[in-house]
This record gives sequence, C-alpha cells and structure tokens, in this order.
Amino acid sequence: MMDRSPVDLSLLPRTARAWSGGTAVGGVDLVAAAREFGTPLFVYDSVQMAENFTEAAEIFGPGVAYATKAFLCKAVARLAYDCGMSLDVSTAGEYHVARVAGVPAGKLVVHGNNKSDGEVERAVSEGVQWLVLDSFDDIDRVRAATSRLGKSCPVLVRVNPGVEVHTHRFTATGNRNSKFGFPLWTGDAPAAVELVKDSPLLDFKGLHIHVGSLVFAIDNFISAVDSVLDLVRAVDPEVFVVGGGLGVRYLREDDAPSFREWADAILQHCKNSGVRARVLAEPGRSMVAAAAVTLYTVGSIATKGARTYLAVDGGMSDNPRPLLYGSGYEVFLPRSPLAPRDKLVTVVGRHCESGDTLVEHGTLPSSVAIGDVVSTPVTGAYGYCMASNYNVLTRPAIVWVADGDASLVVRRETFDDLLRCDLG
Ligand SMILES: Cc1ncc(COP(=O)(O)O)c(C=O)c1O
Repeated sequence: MMDRSPVDLSLLPRTARAWSGGTAVGGVDLVAAAREFGTPLFVYDSVQMAENFTEAAEIFGPGVAYATKAFLCKAVARLAYDCGMSLDVSTAGEYHVARVAGVPAGKLVVHGNNKSDGEVERAVSEGVQWLVLDSFDDIDRVRAATSRLGKSCPVLVRVNPGVEVHTHRFTATGNRNSKFGFPLWTGDAPAAVELVKDSPLLDFKGLHIHVGSLVFAIDNFISAVDSVLDLVRAVDPEVFVVGGGLGVRYLREDDAPSFREWADAILQHCKNSGVRARVLAEPGRSMVAAAAVTLYTVGSIATKGARTYLAVDGGMSDNPRPLLYGSGYEVFLPRSPLAPRDKLVTVVGRHCESGDTLVEHGTLPSSVAIGDVVSTPVTGAYGYCMASNYNVLTRPAIVWVADGDASLVVRRETFDDLLRCDLG
C-alpha cells in the first residue's frame, strides 16, 4: 500500500517551518533559495550544527573530535572548532582545509590507514592533538619522522576489536575483514602498544576503536567497548576513544538514539566497567546529516512502462549514497509540503548511468511539474564530501541559513573550475 502522507517534518532541519504554500529552513524559503542560488543546492541549518557541536563538546569535554569526512568546508571546520570541538582529519587534504580555516594543529586528530611521509611530518612538526596509528608500517613511519624532526608526537593505537555491527558491509570498520587498525584477536594490538611505549619519541596517549558508521543499536557500541575492555584495563591509558558511527534517521520508519542517549550509554558503561581513561568520541554523521536538505529542479517527468521517472538536475554526483550503499531517502515538494503525496515516482539524476537513482520509491503530490523544486532531506553527511564531477558536472553550491539569512559558504563550481587542472 502506497503511503500518501506528507513528508515527516521531523526529518527536516530543526528550524524548518512548513505551511500549505511553502517550506522555510532558518527562516529562508527553500524555493526562493533555489531561485537565488541555483540547483542542485545544499541548504544547511547552521544553528542546528552549532547546537550539535556544542552538545558533543559539553558531554565529552576537550579533545572530542568532529569527523570531518562527513562534511568539510572552511566554514564547518571553523564552526566545530568555535563550538569547542577538535577535528578528526584522515588525509592531507582534510588537514589542509582545517588549517586554512584557522583550526590550530593542536586541535587536529590525524587518521589514515596509509599516511604519507609528508602527512606525518606536517602533523609531527605542527604539533597535532594526536596521531592515530593504524599499522606497524605506520608506527615505523611516525618513528622515523619524529627522529628526523627531533620532536615527539602524541599517539593513539587504533584497535580493531573484530566485532560485527549492524550496518552496510562498506561502513563496517571493526570486524575481522577490516583494513583498519591492529587486530585484537591476533595479539597485534597489545604488541603495537608495547612497541609504541618502547619508542622514546612516541608519546602514548591511549587506545582507539571505531567499529562502523550508520550503526543504530547502542548495544553494538557497548559490545565493541566490551571486546576491548581487557586491553583497556591492562594498559590503563590516559584516553580511550570510542570513535563515531551513530546512525541517524533518513526515513520516517528509522529509529535512532539521540546523540545524548548514545553518549550517556557509552560513558556510563565505561564508568561501570572500571575504565579510568578519559572517554572521547569522533562523531561525524550525527553532527551534520539532519541539518541539511538538498534542492533540485525537476527537468522531466516521464512514464516509461510501470514507472514514472522524475529526473532532477543532480544525482549520483552530489549524492552517491543510494548507489554505494542502497540508501533510502524521502523526497518532498517544498512549495506544497503538507499536501498528500499521491504520485509514485522514481527520482533519478541526469547522469549516464542506470544506477543514478536518488529515491527508488518516492512519493510526491500529483501537482508536481517540470520546473518545480523538489527536496531530499537528511543530506548533510557524506553527500557534498563524496560529490564528484562525473559527466563533467559542476559540484553544487552550499548555503547556510539562520535567522532569515542565507549565506553562500561554498560557491557552485564553474566550467573554468573543471578545466583548471587540464593542461591541454
Ligand atoms: C576513524 C573514524 N572516526 C569517526 C568516523 C565518523 O563516523 P560517523 O560519521 O558515522 O559518525 C569515521 C567514519 O567512518 C571514522 O572512520
């Protein structure tokens, strides 16, 4: 049975308001924003992100890091830092954006399963919060860099506990088939800790786990903590980082714990289990996903066989998640958000790829027409940061909205941008 109900407004950013003739986020009308800035367009509720960052900093205290892989631009790096968070970066590029945004190196957590000599040297010489060691090669590389520079570096050892969590296999990172971290079950993890402690220029700070992303069950996180408890108790580190990974609601039927519920459960469990370390986390998706919607313009509505394809001016290049993970999204019509959605549509992009589907079984009011602005909510994480130029499309613009103002924080790419590396 087709669900004709209007979009669940609780999926929209916190400051969203909907009435029979429109939808606003941060006091900015979405159709007007689309007309002013063009589409596809990411619209972020900056107040919601600030509230989330502040809450994370308050709950965990200094050192808790926003995982920038979820969404990074200079403005969000600055906002997370201003709200009291450190930033988790996993490449030289993420590191660079954070530094250009004005984030001090001492607030950066450097990840990566294949860090280059250059990345390590920059981190060591600039004095990062800590570097997270991922393999014995990584230890060698960091030891060599600290000797070359004659400078010590704070480090964590990333442990792979070898546990299964409920998520897509591409977003599970703490099981026995994962490329990340030192396996616990082989004895590599305690061996890595010993090696680090024996390295005079490596300043051992603690242990790290991150078992996956888009995990909804708090029990999964508790089991992951349990699986490393013996090591944590034996090593008695200064900090124990439990990673990120909390799932968020993308669809009406999804059920996700709040960030506070997730954090409280983990902190309480660590305390009850005798963990003396300061427990920290690295949330990404839960900070930014629900703060944004994407706006598209409808270019074609064509019934072909049993399906009606509603084609928009973006697609897999601005949101690869449906194609990568089979992820589901809602779609709604901002000019008429309260009307029944009685038309079944498959929302597709404009790429030359049959997998270029944004919403497989979407519903929209039957008044939807060519030229309309349609929107997919909960697109603030792993959308823009995974965007590509496939088919030589320009990547979208990003606006932040708050208190009735829309400010452009990332402009739309131009054709000249697309050619800037092409030397002919
Ligand atoms: C090491 C690490 N920390 C934190 C995160 C953030 O995860 P999420 O965005 O699911 O909170 C990731 C992403 O997978 C990660 O790899």
